[in-house]
Amino acid sequence: MDKTEFKEFGYKFVDWVSDYLSGIEKLPVLSQVKPGEISGNLPQKPPGRGESMEEIFRDFQEIILPGITHWQHPSWFAYFPANNSPPSVLAELLTAGIGSQCMIWQTSPAAEELEEVVMDWLRQMLGLPEGMAGVIQDTASTATLCALLTAREKATGFESNRGGLKKPLIVYASEETHSSIEKGAKIAGYGSENIRYIPTDEDFAMVPSLLEEAIEEDKKKGLQPACVVATLGTTSSTAIDPLPAMGDICRRHDVWLHVDAAFAGTAAILPESKWMLEGAEHIDSFVFNPHKWMLTNFDCSAYFVKDPGALIQTFEIHPEYLKTGKDSEVKNFRDWGIQLGRRFRALKLWFVIRSYGVEGLQEIVRGHIRLAKMFKGWVEEHETFELMAPVPLSLVCFRLNGGRDEEDLNDLNRQLLESLNRTGKIFLTHTTLRGKYVLRMAIASRTTKEDHVKEAWELIKKKAEEVSK
Ligand SMILES: Cc1ncc(COP(=O)(O)O)c(C=O)c1O
Repeated sequence: MDKTEFKEFGYKFVDWVSDYLSGIEKLPVLSQVKPGEISGNLPQKPPGRGESMEEIFRDFQEIILPGITHWQHPSWFAYFPANNSPPSVLAELLTAGIGSQCMIWQTSPAAEELEEVVMDWLRQMLGLPEGMAGVIQDTASTATLCALLTAREKATGFESNRGGLKKPLIVYASEETHSSIEKGAKIAGYGSENIRYIPTDEDFAMVPSLLEEAIEEDKKKGLQPACVVATLGTTSSTAIDPLPAMGDICRRHDVWLHVDAAFAGTAAILPESKWMLEGAEHIDSFVFNPHKWMLTNFDCSAYFVKDPGALIQTFEIHPEYLKTGKDSEVKNFRDWGIQLGRRFRALKLWFVIRSYGVEGLQEIVRGHIRLAKMFKGWVEEHETFELMAPVPLSLVCFRLNGGRDEEDLNDLNRQLLESLNRTGKIFLTHTTLRGKYVLRMAIASRTTKEDHVKEAWELIKKKAEEVSK
């Protein structure tokens, strides 16, 4: 592709993305294709000769696009969102154009130094303790794995990196914790049997006295507690674990405290949500995803640690070919995580924070929380719907309840969800809370306005009537 063609298609693609984003409401939120439909339309052998951009772009629109689930749709209420935003998309274009691989300071000093600065901006925005240092990871799952690995090393005096794990170490998290904790514990060598799932209270938050009991019981058995994971904003219902009490317990028992605030962390930029981070002085490591609620397109996960030395000691490697004369003066983020090669993710975060400003981001998050409270009110007022969990932020868990028995209710709500998503007008997902099938209305997409939430509620009521017949 020559420069002229690159420019021609570059302009065309920017136009296309802009039109896509502004016209996205016309598309079905959830892709309606059947399994195998997309691959069935693709040649099974790679082309021998290069094809024209015209043809490739045509196939993108005709073959690929129908198989896209539109995460940026304003009626996206599923999972948690993965928001992008125009400044973030433009920054990604620059990142791709520059094409830097930012493994060490020398391989792009600006990438390393911008990451350092932007992560400290984020620390200040959330109100995390001064002195915590940040690094961008791809996902919360990776950040949590880093935390589990560092906790493992701390608990064994950095011996397990050398000799492997000699005796079991124990991880504690609430029964509502995200599945990435189990995955991380398996990968980091703890073993899934060495995770203690601590019961939760009526708000689905961890009961700290039961955490302490579990730690003491393990100690009596000669087992070594190594890491406690607190969740701020559980995936099922955005329950907030009690940090101050959990932090006290961790300090008393000398256990690493990792905080998973993957979705909810962004809310801590609001003065009225700062309560979530009470007890933050106890945190050893903390992760939240700007790629969820902070308008920075996937992937971008912000990981903060109290003691960067422990993180580096866990991950550092010194192959000769990576040594530079500047290593004692600079940060080399290759030693702050698992991967060696690193994308220049700080650029899009910088663009987003500068473009919206802290106040602009606060306004968006505050708006989502307001819409969720409004939706919660409708559920509470309606005679056949039932609120299934508190709504501390912008996720509403609810179900249809016409007084049938529990087994029937689970089936009925499953049918309701399927019929809603089949319309292509909105997309919601489900969870179970204490064994009950529950619909999750996650209101956190950048473009979601009050009308979208109202329309969703009307559709939910209509479909509820249909499935109840
Ligand atoms: C509480 C929590 N932790 C971790 C994750 C995993 O995030 P990621 O996809 O960035 O690994 C999620 C995803 O929604 C989550 O809700």
